[in-house]
Amino acid sequence: MSYEKYERIAPLYDVLDKAYEVSWKRRLRNDVFRDADGLILDAGAGTGCNIPFYPRNARVIGVDNSPGMLVRARKRAAKEGISAEFLEMDLTRTRFPDDHFDVIAATFVFCVLPEELQLPVLREMRRICKPTGTIRILDYTMSKKAPVRLMMRVVSPWLNFAFAARYTAQYESYLPEARLAPVRNDFVMGDVVKLLVLSPEGKQGGDVSQREIAALRRG
Ligand SMILES: C[S@@+](CC[C@H](N)C(=O)[O-])C[C@H]1O[C@@H](n2cnc3c(N)ncnc32)[C@H](O)[C@@H]1O
Repeated sequence: MSYEKYERIAPLYDVLDKAYEVSWKRRLRNDVFRDADGLILDAGAGTGCNIPFYPRNARVIGVDNSPGMLVRARKRAAKEGISAEFLEMDLTRTRFPDDHFDVIAATFVFCVLPEELQLPVLREMRRICKPTGTIRILDYTMSKKAPVRLMMRVVSPWLNFAFAARYTAQYESYLPEARLAPVRNDFVMGDVVKLLVLSPEGKQGGDVSQREIAALRRG
């Protein structure tokens, strides 16, 4: 469902999302990649809106299951002079080996994944994340404030129609089952957008160091 949607909207995605991108998304993307180092995965990279925030000293691989979106990401990277790789892959079953990435970033991807794929994708991310690595999720949550909730309900049909997305994805509730522990869990725009930084639990040689956790919490 989201595959067909993104293949169809790929040429329009940046135009449709521009108002959000310029008014607030850009600012938050910077936070996701701050202090990211080593080998980084941009999971569900889309048209490459995160590219300007990729750390210059890191190696980045972007994956998406929509070739149409990836074409645009590659063009954007070339235009910005960034040497990232973009590969077609499904996030439920990537072709990466275990314990591969230092940082896995997923920005506005869980709001698009159907509910039944949230846990499989979190598990796959844990599998390919290094024991000392982090998984960083920037995504929507439903507001607890009545007027904001109402506004989100009003906008929901558009979000679903335009982006096959929703505000109600329950990714956070699957973290214990996926064995991912939050080291940072902050609202970064009202109580509507969250930045979650997760550490894979119980992997040999694992645990993000206390120093790194302190740095991540400082944001
Ligand atoms: C809302 S867009 C976000 C794109 C980008 N991360 C950003 O912040 O602008 C969601 C992206 O997730 C991709 N996607 C959805 N389900 C996927 C899956 N199972 N495997 C890989 N990519 C997927 C879509 O093709 C789309 O490019």
